[in-house]
Amino acid sequence: MKKILITGGAGFIGSHVVRLFVQKYPQYTIVNLDKLTYAGNLENLKDIEHHTNYIFEKVDIVDANAIDTLFEKYKFDSVIHLAAESHVDRSILNPLEFIMTNVVGTVNLLNAAKKCWHDDFSGKLFYHVSTDEVYGSLGETGLFTEETAYDPRSPYSASKASSDHFVRAYENTYHLPVVISNCSNNYGAFQFPEKLIPLFINNIKNNKPLPVYGKGDYTRDWLFVEDHATAIDTIFHNGKLGETYNIGGFNEWQNIDLIKLLCAIMDKKLNREKGSSEQLITYVKDRPGHDKRYAIDASKLNKELGWKPSLQFEEGLEKTVDWYLQNETWLHHVTSGEYQNYYKHQYELS
Ligand code: NAD
Ligand code: DAU
Repeated sequence: MKKILITGGAGFIGSHVVRLFVQKYPQYTIVNLDKLTYAGNLENLKDIEHHTNYIFEKVDIVDANAIDTLFEKYKFDSVIHLAAESHVDRSILNPLEFIMTNVVGTVNLLNAAKKCWHDDFSGKLFYHVSTDEVYGSLGETGLFTEETAYDPRSPYSASKASSDHFVRAYENTYHLPVVISNCSNNYGAFQFPEKLIPLFINNIKNNKPLPVYGKGDYTRDWLFVEDHATAIDTIFHNGKLGETYNIGGFNEWQNIDLIKLLCAIMDKKLNREKGSSEQLITYVKDRPGHDKRYAIDASKLNKELGWKPSLQFEEGLEKTVDWYLQNETWLHHVTSGEYQNYYKHQYELS
């Protein structure tokens, strides 16, 4: 009977990881810790909330005492740490919040695990979920490997890089059993509509402008979120302690090409005239310090642990569009309140 703490389980990726673990491993107890910020939503987990191996705890990882108390209460064997402030544009508006949650919060969890496990680390694991953005920005060619030097360039990626360094420092100094994965851009159901794909789906649906930063010639490497969850499952169970694994779909898209593909899918789904959604494209002021290109070399994970993505991008994107069109109530709930203020600030002033 493993007791696993999953942090950030009410968020986008976390909810897919919690669902996978709760359903696939009835023999494990899964404790989902989440502060429920604007990005955390228990509606994401409605289908599994009554499972007997699932528990929710509303806790802020910045609160060290609360974290210690939780470790004393459950005596976790393992941690899968996803809780974070995750949106680059918000990090540019308020870097301190990112330092508090992503750096201080991570160190609080490391301290609590170290204390709880009393230097008896057999069967224990601290799995830290990170991003490819820690590697910085690529030119026209090349891929991020696990050996690429860190070069974070936004307050968000600097805070994630810092948290990765603390995780490695705890391994080196205290021999805490850790593993880290760095993943590329995720897309799929339950993603908060401030990120490119769900924001643009929502705007197309409502005939609102599609705010493309700069010339739209930035490149991202996209992975279906359920494939990220299976990669985490694989690494959690079979990854080597102390290792880093890059996760990605070998699936690079320039923003403008992705946006045109999305527009074409939406025209079809909404029975609109071909080309009509593209007319909503509006070029706006660029993101400050915008990273040019991300691309992940995920071959280590494939060669050593046998993981590979299950879906082609077009198929995953269509599935994602269908989900957003069928879940209007969810979309309505998350786009009211605080989100309206953020949207106004981010887009109407630019
Ligand atoms: P998200 O913003 O959708 O969810 C984050 C979750 O963390 C939310 O449920 C939120 O309530 C919770 N949270 C935030 N601050 C907290 C705090 N102080 N205490 C407790 N809970 C808190 O993020 P996501 O996109 O699901 O990302 C999850 C993780 O994966 C992050 O660590 C992120 O850096 C990493 N990641 C994301 C992507 C991506 O494309 N979204 C890619 C690679 C890595
Ligand atoms: O690479 C992994 C990272 O991917 C994760 O660590 C982050 O948590 C996640 O948010 C994501 O970061 P990005 O900044 O790449 O994602 P975002 O969806 O914000 O933007 C994707 C691209 O689209 C980027 O080049 C900026 C551009 N963009 C984004 C928005 C929100 C626009 O052109 N217009 C927009 O309105």
